Amino acid sequence: MPFDSVKEDAVWQRLCSVAEAPAPGAVMEVETGGQAVCLANVGGELAALDNICPHRLGPLGQGWIEGGAVVCPWHCWVFDVKTGVAAYPDKGQVAVFPLRVEGESVLIALPEREPQTEPSVDEENF
Ligand code: FES
Repeated sequence: MPFDSVKEDAVWQRLCSVAEAPAPGAVMEVETGGQAVCLANVGGELAALDNICPHRLGPLGQGWIEGGAVVCPWHCWVFDVKTGVAAYPDKGQVAVFPLRVEGESVLIALPEREPQTEPSVDEENF
């Protein structure tokens, strides 16, 4: 993905090593910064998608590659690795994250998380 499409609030971080990345035609799950990522290798090109399928929250990284897309292992929805749009059954989309290889590391640009404005614990009942 071109760097000019990386949002300003994105934070680059290490996803895995090049050696750990999936081989062509394979997918895997990786977690970084609290984000579960489906890392796919389509014809030698890596792509990173949100790992959670919008249908019933299936783990896309446990799926497979078919025709340049990632197939969810639970009910076979098919997601384009460049856009994240479901090709079948034609609704639904997952986020696609920019990737780059730097030295021996695969880096991913994740959107900065919203700062927490509310306490996570009700202080009166703490
Ligand atoms: S959970 Fe992914 S297709 Fe149903």
